[in-house]
Amino acid sequence: MITESSIKFNREKLGKTIEVGNASPHIERVLAIAQEACIDPRTADQKTTKKGFLVYPLDKKRYEQRANGNDFFITFSEEGRVKGFLMCYDRSFLQNLISEGEIGHEDGIISYLTKNTEPEDNFLYGDQIGISAENRTREAGTILMEKVFAKMKDRSMRNMYVAILHGPIRNEASINFVGRLGFENITEVTNSDGLVWGIYHADISKE
Ligand SMILES: CC(C)(COP(=O)(O)OP(=O)(O)OC[C@H]1O[C@@H](n2cnc3c(N)ncnc32)[C@H](O)[C@@H]1OP(=O)(O)O)[C@@H](O)C(=O)NCCC(=O)NCCS
Repeated sequence: MITESSIKFNREKLGKTIEVGNASPHIERVLAIAQEACIDPRTADQKTTKKGFLVYPLDKKRYEQRANGNDFFITFSEEGRVKGFLMCYDRSFLQNLISEGEIGHEDGIISYLTKNTEPEDNFLYGDQIGISAENRTREAGTILMEKVFAKMKDRSMRNMYVAILHGPIRNEASINFVGRLGFENITEVTNSDGLVWGIYHADISKE
C-alpha cells in the first residue's frame, strides 16, 4: 500500500514498484539492515569493507525515538520489502538529541556543526544510511537522498552535512556515493574515541 507520505518511482534499473516513506513502521527492518552493515573499524580491513559500512550501532529503542516526529528518517521499499533507510535530523531535532544526551560518540562532528553553522541556518545532518547488502549499487541510496533533498527544498533548507569515516579506514563506497551527489569534503574531525571523520557538505540550492 502506498501511504500519503510515500512517493512512487519507476526507475528502469529497478523496474519494480518502489516506495519511499517514513521509517516509523519499519524499525525492525532498519535495525536488521544497520546490524548487517555495522563493523568495528579498529579490526576491519580496507579490503573487506569495499561496499561501505556503518560504525556506531543503535538499538531498536533509539531508532524508534529517532523516527518519532522526524520527517527526515525514511525507508526505501521494493515490492513491499524494506531494503534501505536514511536517517537525518534537522537542526532542532539534532539539538534535542544533544540535550537529551543521546549523541554519544559523535562529539567532534557535533562540535564542528554547532561552531561552524549560523544559528538561523536550519541545516540537515545525515547520520546514517544503509542499503541491505544484496541491494547495493541499484540506486536505492540515491533515491533516498533525492527524496530528502526534495523535502529540504519544500522547507527552504539548503545545507546538508554528513560525516564519513576517514581513519583508521576510509569508507570509500560512501565517499564516492556522496561525491556523485555533489558533496564536498570540507574538513576532518576526530571524535573522543579516536576515530577520524571527514565532514562533507552540499548546498542543495545550487543544483
Ligand atoms: C554507501 C551506500 C549507502 C550507497 O547506496 P547504494 O544504493 O549502494 O548506491 P547507489 O546505487 O544509489 O549509487 C551508486 C554510487 O555510489 C558509489 N558506490 C556505491 N557502492 C560503491 C562501492 N562498493 N565502491 C565504490 N563506489 C560505490 C558510487 O559512486 C556509485 O556510482 P557509480 O556506480 O557511478 O560509481 C550503500 O552502498 C550502503 O548502504 N553501504 C553500507 C553502509 C554505508 O556505507 N553507509 C554509509 C555510512 S557513512
